[in-house]
Amino acid sequence: SAPLIELNSGIEIPQLGLGVWQSTPEEAQRAVRFAIDEARYRHIDTAAAYGNESGVGEGIAAASVLRSEVFVTTKLWNSDHGYERALAAIDTSLRALGTDYVDLYLIHWPLQDRDRLLRTWDAMEKILADGKAHSIGVCNFEPHHLQWLIDRGGVLPAVDQVELHPHLQQRELREFAGEHGIAIESWSPLGGTSGSGWGPNSKPNTVLTDPTIGDIAIKHGRSPAQVVLAWHIKLGLIVIPKSVHDDRIKQNIDVFDFELDDEDVARIAALDDGKRVGIHPDEMNLGAPD
Ligand code: A2P
Repeated sequence: SAPLIELNSGIEIPQLGLGVWQSTPEEAQRAVRFAIDEARYRHIDTAAAYGNESGVGEGIAAASVLRSEVFVTTKLWNSDHGYERALAAIDTSLRALGTDYVDLYLIHWPLQDRDRLLRTWDAMEKILADGKAHSIGVCNFEPHHLQWLIDRGGVLPAVDQVELHPHLQQRELREFAGEHGIAIESWSPLGGTSGSGWGPNSKPNTVLTDPTIGDIAIKHGRSPAQVVLAWHIKLGLIVIPKSVHDDRIKQNIDVFDFELDDEDVARIAALDDGKRVGIHPDEMNLGAPD
């Protein structure tokens, strides 16, 4: 299984987990059980908006380990911002997951309205204090959003989960987060869904077919996906590749017995073209009012 990374909450997170975005509840249930029992995953990343928390919960329940041995993340959706809504949202997620706590609860997207976002963070702290989440954090926050939470004082987010892969390396954000002890988690770590992307700046996955990645893969006798995951790990990132295919689920965690060298890392550093497969945080349509 994956090595552990200590978050600023004092809680340890397995560095690699299974992503389940775009999986149906049935697919998620299968993939989660398989990942835990057959591939030694101990970290699952879902969200209320994925519509598959129930499948994730059933997958964990069907696996042959205790709930407490699996690190479970879920996320607060855009329509659940605000203090009271956020408190209701975690309860709904816990019910769907069939558990009385999550290991990590994340705000899925930032708001441009600072005051309203801070009210949601007040609720996140309450959720933490009540033991319904063992760590709290955010997704898709840019440095200025993180700065709002830093200036507020109180609990800092344990993680910021953002789109990050060799074509969108997020150097500025990684540096900022590093200075403040906030861990970065990479979503779409392999460059996103195969086929067409989504969002206004979307493009199909070109990471796994990148010739440089292909070269490095041949050099190490690994697949392009394994090279990309080894790159995230080398950078100290937490990574949550998604697959619903057994062979890929196995392959994607089989990346801790080799390491990229400095030349590989330098070659991949040159691949950053800043193009997203997903939406930019400023372009996200931000939910209902209070
Ligand atoms: P599938 O679920 O059909 O296996 P990301 O995690 O960057 O969002 O990308 C996941 C995409 O890459 C999914 O479309 C997934 O499809 C595919 N994928 C996951 N693991 C691998 C792999 N080892 N090799 C090739 N494609 C993969």
